[in-house]
Amino acid sequence: MTTNPTLAELADRATASRERPAYGHDALITCDRLVRIFSTDGVEVQALQGLDLLVREGELMALVGASGSGKSTLMNILAGLDTPTAGAARVAGRDLLAMTSKNRLAYRREVVGFVWQQTSRNLLPYLTAAQNVALPMQLAGAARRSGRRARGERALELLELLEVADCRDRRPHQMSGGQQQRVAIAVALANEPAVLLADEPTGELDSHTAEQIFGAFRTANERLGTTIVIVTHDQAVAGEVRRTVAIRDGRTSTEVLRRSEVDAATGDERVVAREYAMLDRAGRLQLPAEYTEALGMRDRVALELEPDHIAVRPDDSERD
Ligand SMILES: Nc1ncnc2c1ncn2[C@@H]1O[C@H](COP(=O)(O)OP(=O)(O)OP(=O)(O)O)[C@@H](O)[C@H]1O
Ligand SMILES: [Mg+2]
Repeated sequence: MTTNPTLAELADRATASRERPAYGHDALITCDRLVRIFSTDGVEVQALQGLDLLVREGELMALVGASGSGKSTLMNILAGLDTPTAGAARVAGRDLLAMTSKNRLAYRREVVGFVWQQTSRNLLPYLTAAQNVALPMQLAGAARRSGRRARGERALELLELLEVADCRDRRPHQMSGGQQQRVAIAVALANEPAVLLADEPTGELDSHTAEQIFGAFRTANERLGTTIVIVTHDQAVAGEVRRTVAIRDGRTSTEVLRRSEVDAATGDERVVAREYAMLDRAGRLQLPAEYTEALGMRDRVALELEPDHIAVRPDDSERD
């Protein structure tokens, strides 16, 4: 038989949890109650409504969510193109709310790389693939890469890594959409960014090409160790990463973690996926709609603290 914890034990646990290190102290990306309100013609849209997100160094993760849920708003903030209305956002030690415009420019050139959905937005049309990749290094200044020759060599290495070295002397209109996106990833990686952000990078491509582009992100993550956040509506792409975070109404709602497990009986390797919900510091939890609807939960639920879990049951008070 299990016994419920005593009040003293619960109080001890609560104290221990308050003494934990600050939220996100060891994360590369920390979003803490991030808010972004757009006001157009006197109408306010709350695109982000207190979003919490932690991404650790070296992660390759996907962000999913319905249209209008705030994914691009978040990406634009992380890319340093937009500033939040309230909350906190830190990337690689930089405070995104407190950057001067000079620091912001350096941040965009050196700390983050981005790949957008529109292939045409990623590359300059009048430069070749190799010139496109060398350009960010040139803009970052002599401090980072010595000469033209070193830049050219690195550009070629990146194009080789992404398997588009054969396109080095071609301009964007001479490449397929998939090739352009691979070159775009090389451009984004040119200055060895801590974080690579991609907003629907496979949105304009067919599913086969999308899979190859996804492979290119995986290569960048594995070979260069770059932390990568990809927004996608493609379930197949989302299913390829270890961690998928869902955004709902401007907040992170649930996340799915996948890990490989070896079946003890057959020895086969299989991927086990488990769904998690975010618990914010006020203790608020958003239950997935499929779960609450399946059990007819509304307005109020019954809670019970068990030694190793919390039971959430439909409200049965009316039935007494
Ligand atoms: N510059 C802006 N001015 C006003 N409202 C905006 C602006 N940018 C976004 N919004 C609004 O903020 C909300 C979130 O938009 P966002 O583009 O982040 O969604 P999304 O999740 O990227 O959607 P999609 O999957 O369609 O790309 C939407 O209601 C949108 O209309
Ligand atoms: Mg979007």
